[in-house]
Amino acid sequence: MREVLSGLVDIERAAEAGDTLTRRLSHELREAILKGALLPGRRLPSSRELARQLKVSRNTISSVIDQLAMEGFLDVAQGRRPVVTAQRAPLLRGKSAAAKPAPALRMSQWAKRLQKSDWPIRDREPPRPFRPGFGDFREFPHELWARCLRRAARGVARREELSINSPALQSALLRHLVEHRGVRAAPRQLVILPSAQAAIELIARLVLDAGDVAWMESPGYGGARTALEAAGARVQGISLDRSGISIETGSSRPRLIFVTPSHQYPTGRLMSINRRRQLLAFAATSGATIIEDDYDSEFHYDGRPVAALQGLEQTASVFYVGTFSKSTFHDIRLGYALVPEAYVEIFEQAQRHSGQIGAVPVQDALAEFIADGHLAAHIRRMSRLYHARRDHLVRALNATAGDRLSIVPPSGGMQLVATLGKQIDDRAVAVRLAEQGLSVRPLSPHFVGRATDRGLFLGFAAWNEPEIEQGAEILGRVLRGAGR
Ligand SMILES: Cc1ncc(COP(=O)(O)O)c(C=O)c1O
Repeated sequence: MREVLSGLVDIERAAEAGDTLTRRLSHELREAILKGALLPGRRLPSSRELARQLKVSRNTISSVIDQLAMEGFLDVAQGRRPVVTAQRAPLLRGKSAAAKPAPALRMSQWAKRLQKSDWPIRDREPPRPFRPGFGDFREFPHELWARCLRRAARGVARREELSINSPALQSALLRHLVEHRGVRAAPRQLVILPSAQAAIELIARLVLDAGDVAWMESPGYGGARTALEAAGARVQGISLDRSGISIETGSSRPRLIFVTPSHQYPTGRLMSINRRRQLLAFAATSGATIIEDDYDSEFHYDGRPVAALQGLEQTASVFYVGTFSKSTFHDIRLGYALVPEAYVEIFEQAQRHSGQIGAVPVQDALAEFIADGHLAAHIRRMSRLYHARRDHLVRALNATAGDRLSIVPPSGGMQLVATLGKQIDDRAVAVRLAEQGLSVRPLSPHFVGRATDRGLFLGFAAWNEPEIEQGAEILGRVLRGAGR
């Protein structure tokens, strides 16, 4: 052992590198096994002997041996010296190991359906104009939030119940939703999850069986489409008219209907009150369950916001879904769902089973943030700011590219669609814009089935006026070059 580890383990260097001695020694020993310097079957000296030779404590050596035994590199039997295991032999970089083919990737149907999907869009770059879906986190009151977090962290020691949905957040958020969105529910119906996407995914799994039909708006939200497809549903895209989803164009009877009534995703269209009633009546008679995704309804600029479907009538089964990633900042990782009474118990069981639980101290911090009025104040301030930014972007685009695109400003939300001529390849335009430093989504991939429009989906909330102007300049330049 001494011969093998001498030269491999430099204790002083390990200490200087700031690594713990245990971690460093574990690393060196693991490497020695992987490189074949310690072959399978080799019996190591006793921990007492190793500690003496390496001039470290016996505790350190015991931790190293325990760690490597747990990883499967060493066999340790009571009272015997550790032995290098044979299972690791294929990892040796010898000729015979290289000749063996890697084990085949065996994926479930669920994984295959997920892999086929183009959602979530794998964009790891920091957000650039005009990437949709983002609010301006530079404007968030981070100091106030930090105080709420600090107090909630201290409160952990005093916590008595083990609820996964913070009762303080359930009641503060429900009050907020009743006042601002007109929902009707008891606090226990409000479940807190790490995101709205997690809520949609769980609801899909609770409601759908493989082969069931699910409707969603087309164009529509890719995150929902993937969740429905992954659950095995046959997803039907239902076209939109001026009032929202055109119910009468749907053919097969749906088990589930996904809609975004406040600001249709991505067009921004508001579902009229009549269409809401019609949809609820249709769901009640056909036995379909509705997911109402109210993702950015907090920001409404023109006219009065329309109350949530969930609170309109209690005849249909409606899951109301929301997120804090738009109203606060995208990394907060908290969303929620108002679950029909009949689903409350199974939903909590599904949450626990799948581990879809929001960090409770963060939930408590948010409860205080809401109860003290900070969330409502932030939303009021951001509504003014985003409203001005929407108008600014519309003006800037009309000035730089008004002859190439047309915009119907959405009455709220954080993004808009600029429609292009039907002959323009919007995916190619998005690629060209990306080369110029802009992050813009093409409209056509948002359709479920045949794309009937071409356009660009642009976020305006996260960008200040100079950023909007600069982006619009680039967009105008690229569009003037497109379609020639
Ligand atoms: C329409 C819509 N629903 C849901 C979500 C998901 O929100 P979260 O970030 O909480 O998963 C988004 C996020 O962009 C969205 O655009």
